[in-house]
Amino acid sequence: MPLIELRNVYKQFGRLLVLNHVNLAIEEGKTLVVIGASGSGKSVMLKHIVGLLKPDEGEVWYRGERIDNLSERQLVPIRQKFGFLFQMGALFDSMTVEENVAFPLVEHTNKTPEEIDRIVGQKLAMVGLPETRKKMPGELSGGQRKRIALARAIALDPQVILYDEPTTGLDPIRADVINELILKLKRELHVTSIVVTHDMHSAFKVADRIVMLFQGNFIFDGTPEEVEKSDNPVIQHFVRGEAGPEDLAALDQTAPR
Ligand SMILES: Nc1ncnc2c1ncn2[C@@H]1O[C@H](COP(=O)(O)OP(=O)(O)OP(=O)(O)O)[C@@H](O)[C@H]1O
Ligand SMILES: [Mg+2]
Repeated sequence: MPLIELRNVYKQFGRLLVLNHVNLAIEEGKTLVVIGASGSGKSVMLKHIVGLLKPDEGEVWYRGERIDNLSERQLVPIRQKFGFLFQMGALFDSMTVEENVAFPLVEHTNKTPEEIDRIVGQKLAMVGLPETRKKMPGELSGGQRKRIALARAIALDPQVILYDEPTTGLDPIRADVINELILKLKRELHVTSIVVTHDMHSAFKVADRIVMLFQGNFIFDGTPEEVEKSDNPVIQHFVRGEAGPEDLAALDQTAPR
């Protein structure tokens, strides 16, 4: 049984069709990477998995249970099984690092302050930033903020971690620290990971499986080796970072005559 399943999911915003009856089964304990151009629906897809968006048609399943039709209240225990590293990082700027990481524990558990303190220390050690406890997010670099957000995302020991563009905006070394963290969390916590990215170096490094979203559907599904061997021009252009004729058509229209 797959851990997470999208069945025939269809989603439109007004007249914009984003997900056109997509199907995806995600295996437990593996790392799935979702690639695709800006605006192709990657974040929208992630949000369907945790019920932040509801499909117009189709179903979302988690461990054999249908979850797209649950109420916000019914979703609470399911959401706690997910750690979500949002695209924009989203730390609370008015709280210290330790308060940020403690937040889900304070909100969702009855743990004592001492226990929470211990867990915060453990999660900060996991992301390699134990000495930042008393700092404010504004005092940290972009890469450090992502790692703190990750420490917060794993505070409740999730079964699944969703990463929305975890390396975007980081220099190659800091980006690789995040890649290594993704691998480490898989290894040590045995989590299932879904990583949305357009950083192909990161994709090849962390993925067990790569899918590509294009015009509302998954047009590719395979291992990193199969991506390299694929002769699909859409994938090849994306992987090599080369614009194809269709990408450049808009430039021609605006060029002076
Ligand atoms: N809540 C919303 N209401 C209306 N339109 C939305 C909403 N969320 C996303 N969209 C639109 O859906 C499309 C897909 O958005 P999405 O955020 O999933 O793209 P993405 O693949 O994550 O892109 P990027 O790589 O730039 O983050 C975009 O055109 C976006 O404007
Ligand atoms: Mg996005």
